[in-house]
Parts: sequence; structure tokens; C-alpha cells
Amino acid sequence: MTSDFENKNFFLPYGRHDIDEEDLKAVRNALLSGWLTTGPKVEEFEEKTAKISGAGFGAAVNSGTAALHAAMAALDIKPGDEVIVPPITFAATANAVVYQGGKPVFADVDPDTLLIDPLKIEEKINSRTRAVIAVDYAGRMCDYDALRKIAKKYDIYLVADACHSIGGAYKGSPSGSCADLTVFSFHPVKQITTGEGGMVVSNDKDLIHRIKLFRNHGISDDLHQRREKESWYYEIQMPGFNYRLTDFQCALGISQLKKLESRIHKRNCLAKQYDRFFERIDGIAPLKRQEFISHAYHLYVVKLDLERLKKNRLEIFSFLRNKGIGVNVHYIPVHYHPFYKKTFNTYKGLCPIAEYAYERILTLPLFPAMTEDDVKMVCHAIKRAVTP
Ligand SMILES: Cc1ncc(COP(=O)(O)O)c(C=O)c1O
Repeated sequence: MTSDFENKNFFLPYGRHDIDEEDLKAVRNALLSGWLTTGPKVEEFEEKTAKISGAGFGAAVNSGTAALHAAMAALDIKPGDEVIVPPITFAATANAVVYQGGKPVFADVDPDTLLIDPLKIEEKINSRTRAVIAVDYAGRMCDYDALRKIAKKYDIYLVADACHSIGGAYKGSPSGSCADLTVFSFHPVKQITTGEGGMVVSNDKDLIHRIKLFRNHGISDDLHQRREKESWYYEIQMPGFNYRLTDFQCALGISQLKKLESRIHKRNCLAKQYDRFFERIDGIAPLKRQEFISHAYHLYVVKLDLERLKKNRLEIFSFLRNKGIGVNVHYIPVHYHPFYKKTFNTYKGLCPIAEYAYERILTLPLFPAMTEDDVKMVCHAIKRAVTP
């Protein structure tokens, strides 16, 4: 997509899905297969996703949010329990704890990566702490060696909110293999999509079994087992939800998975092109990346040195938006939201590093269909936006 930002109708979003003929064929075949939901494509998608993510098992659900909720339910998070989360994330990470009646406790982030800081986690652990949810913000995986050590030391669960990091790796271990439970999202802006959709992957068969119960009303026996037994009998083992993902969405997911590797490669190429540009620009720097991390680049985020640039972020943001560059800000710290202030007495000053970063971050367009010319155009516009 090569475009001219002087054209008034032009808009380059920060992220966009990609659907090809093979995807359309897969969905059509699934729609005509006789199974719209709870059919064979669900299991196939679970198996294939678990395989590429280095996990033994997967449970598909109808959003990343449902996957987080199901993960909290499988760990039996309940009123009185605390779960440590970072403030720089989409609110769904913390909301999932609240759905179970638990309390999200915010631990500040590392200033260079904006990932949860293991040292800050330890300060927040007490006898009520049951789990940590680490968020692989922007597609860069957290420091899982340090996180696993903490989880083991305090006998708490480690959950990876990997809604940004499918296809990435930490020291050679794929996203999906580093925590007790790992959660993916297949929302359209993500690396692969099912429209809406999500999955929990794990090596723990029992936890995945609980998630499968939870996504299907808490029913103990699935349709196939009942059919095999020729029985109408089922039991509600827990008050679950209908979080099922349809067969045609799973067929789309299977088709999209085939393109995951090439898409991650393209995202990395575009990110490198941005990196090279920012090496030459004073006052703007990308988030830190390290060689031992294979970045999944869901987002390309830069930090603005506003003091040096002598500009405020809104000016830069508005200039770029007016040029059709769909910059965004990920994220408003979760503890700033009125619900969290009202319910958990959170306040400005609770996580100073995240708060300082929030004032200065900007997400630039990054998706596989972008061209080198698109990146050049964004860079050109940024140069104009920050020139005094
Ligand atoms: C970090 C993070 N967690 C959870 C979610 C929720 O995923 P979904 O939109 O599929 O419900 C998102 C979605 O963008 C996310 O970015």
C-alpha cells in the first residue's frame, strides 16, 4: 500500500488484519462442513496453536478477554485473592481478576521496555497473592527466567498475557511455553486473527480441562462424549460461560497460522526500518529490544523526549493524525481508570515509571501489508512534526 499523506482521504491505521483467498476458502469449507461450532476445526486449531507455541494443550475461546477470565477461573482466583499485574496493558488483563472477585495489584514496569519489573513484583507479594499476570507488551516477551524464579519462590502461578506476542520467543522458547498458562488474542489487529477469538495454552492438562469446562457452561461431558455414550446426561461442575469459538473462526485461525512466521518476519523488517530512522533523530527512541528476544512486534512504540523536543505529545499526535497517520497511545495506565480508583483506591503516583512513560509514548503504524514506502512516509511526517 503506497499512499500520499497529502490526500485528504488517506489513513494509515496503527494495525490491520490480512485476509487472503486461502482464508476465504477455509472459512467457506468450514461453513459447508456440517459443523458450525464444537466441531473438528476447534480441536485442530487448538492442537496447531499449542504446537507452534511449545505447549502441550490448548483451549480455544471467543476472545482474549474470555481466555484471561477462563485462566483466572481455572486457577480458582476468588474474593480475597490478589493477582499482580502491570499498569501498562489493556484493561482486560486486570478486569479478568475482578470478574472472579479478586484484587488486581499493580506492580510498576521497567522504564526501557515497559514490561513488568520482577523487582517491583516481589515488593507486592503477601499471603493473599495467588498469581502474577505478565504482559508481553508490544510483542516483546517479559523476563521469564526472573518471573519463574519468583513464582517458584513464593509458590504462586505465573500467567502470560501473550495477547501481543504469539510467534515471538524468549531465549529460544516460544511464546506459550514460558508460564503456567499463556493467553492469546486473535483480534483483527493481532498477528493472526479469527475476527474475535482467543486461546489458553499450557502444559498442564488439568488446567486446560478446567478451561474447557468453563467455556462451555461448566458442563462436564461434551457433545461428542454424550453421542458416543448415547446418553442425554450431563453435569454442571461450575457456573461456566458460553465462551466457545465457532468452527468457521477456527478454520480461519488454522489458515492464518500458516502465515504467522512470514508475518512476524515482515513486522521485524519494518521495525528495523523504523529503528534505523530513529537512530538519526534526536529526542525519539524506540523501546529497548535485546538479542535473546525474538520480537513479535504487535506494536511499534516510541518514547518522546518532550523536554528535548520542546513539544507536547498532543501536538505531535494531532499533527500526525491530521496527515492521516493513525498513531495511537498504548495504554492509559489501568490504575488511572475511574473504576479502579473507586474500587481499589488506586491513584496517580502508584506506579511512577509507568505514569512517566504514559505521557511520552506513541504507537506508530505497523502491520504486514505496509510497504517500505509507508514507513518512509510515517518517518517523514514525524520529522516534520518534531521540527521546531
Ligand atoms: C494485552 C492484552 N490483553 C488482553 C486483550 C484482550 O483481547 P481481546 O480483544 O481478544 O478480548 C488485549 C486486546 O487487545 C490486549 O492487548
